[in-house]
Amino acid sequence: MSTTSDKQQANPLREGLSTRTVPQACTVVIFGATGDLTMRKLIPALYNLAADGELPPQVAIVGFARRPKTDDEFRKEQEESTKKFSRQKVRDEIWDGFAQALFYHQSEFHDAAGYKSLAERLEKIDKERGTGGNRLFYLAVAPDQFEAILKNLKDAGLNEPRDGGWTRVIVEKPFGTDLATARELNAVVRKAFSENQTYRIDHFLGKETAQNILVLRFANAIFEPIWNGRYVDHIQITAAETLGVEGRAGYYEGAGALRDMVQNHLLQLLCLVAMEPPTDLGADSIRDEKVKIVRSLRRMSAEEITRNVVRGQYCDGAINGEPVPAYRSEKNVKPDSKTETFVALKVRVDDWRLADVPIYIRVGKRLPKSGTEISVHFKKAPAVLFNRESVSLDQNVLVIRIQPDEGISLRMQAKVPGTSFRIEPVKMDFHYGTSFGKASPEAYERLLLDAMSGDATLFARRDEVEEAWAFVDPIEEAWTAKEKQPGLFMYPAGSWGPEEADELLARDGRAWRRL
Ligand code: BG6
Repeated sequence: MSTTSDKQQANPLREGLSTRTVPQACTVVIFGATGDLTMRKLIPALYNLAADGELPPQVAIVGFARRPKTDDEFRKEQEESTKKFSRQKVRDEIWDGFAQALFYHQSEFHDAAGYKSLAERLEKIDKERGTGGNRLFYLAVAPDQFEAILKNLKDAGLNEPRDGGWTRVIVEKPFGTDLATARELNAVVRKAFSENQTYRIDHFLGKETAQNILVLRFANAIFEPIWNGRYVDHIQITAAETLGVEGRAGYYEGAGALRDMVQNHLLQLLCLVAMEPPTDLGADSIRDEKVKIVRSLRRMSAEEITRNVVRGQYCDGAINGEPVPAYRSEKNVKPDSKTETFVALKVRVDDWRLADVPIYIRVGKRLPKSGTEISVHFKKAPAVLFNRESVSLDQNVLVIRIQPDEGISLRMQAKVPGTSFRIEPVKMDFHYGTSFGKASPEAYERLLLDAMSGDATLFARRDEVEEAWAFVDPIEEAWTAKEKQPGLFMYPAGSWGPEEADELLARDGRAWRRL
């Protein structure tokens, strides 16, 4: 009788998977240690890495925040939230060891003395836990704190790598609010850390399925020859959420869907589907190709923005039969807010490969279903045999499901069994869950591990971030212009966005794919 582990070993898809090396011993210092991101994502990610044996035993995690608290209180709090948010069930025997690696350091972010004592504390931890002087600083705070923290780290000499060791910084999003502020922030970061010490996080890049895009495209010989305007009709990228603004209005009101999701996550996905093969798998080779795509995004004039970009905001409606309030009725949202909770846009990449391939991007909150996917719609078969005018056949569609139900499917035409000649679309489907029999790690697990290992491939480089803002800025400017401002279209919560978003595709004889 075969056991589960026999089956796993026999699974051909598992063959050839390399296991990565455990990173070097280090201390991770998290600024904003009592915030939401730390409790929901960072500590659970570190715990899961520890539980999977991916962390070196000599690791320490120091939470840096304002509120007074002892190490034990911090450990207790993190235990509770990790139990709530961890991907795997928290096992006491693992947590007990992990908790010993957690420390709390109380200080205001602008207080130089707090960094001096942090430096002393880190020295002590190095001695006691053998963390080797390697440091990873994680800025999990609001952007208005970045400058004070970076300056103080520098003044305390904490930005300098110590003998033979390394020092790195992870900067959370949002990385600026437009090109000018992103440049300023890059300049602030650069005063303390060099580019190769800087890791700008975009958690979409840590998602297993986003990483698989390059494997799909460049580890299979069959896709590359047809991945161009000769065979591809158009591409759609959708990120739909049923959630609303969830108490984050303070941030979201000033951001909106374009800054919150398109400038970073969705343009990153676009780069991965559109880029040329890199010369090798080095972080810079990959990022060099990605940045070319953002640079090739056709900039739009004010008129083109009105035609090609649709912004929407949810009014009241229902999700899964439950009534939900309008965006303007959410806490801390202005009653006449013009912040968009939905954007649909048609973009063009001006390069040889995709010059004639429109890319449609759609993102929204309070949509009927949550899901992120990329679909590549191929041109129809020539209308000479089965594809005659009277029987128009569907396009082949390759769908990359980023989440949930991660996987890839290919829609093709097949003959319906029987004596008559009927053709219908069928789906070839690959699901991560069943093919590999192994749960995917959370994006933050992968990204933390990469930063500890010094691999910046899945982090945004300075020029990528700035180019993305250069593309987005004119749209924001058009939306706030005094004259000829494009409309803001309302959609009921629980619908697929305003009708104008459907018209954007209908005008081109196309329609959004149903999720
Ligand atoms: C964040 C945005 O970056 O990504 C949120 O600020 C959004 O508004 C979230 O909900 C979506 O991420 P995920 O991983 O839940 O799809």
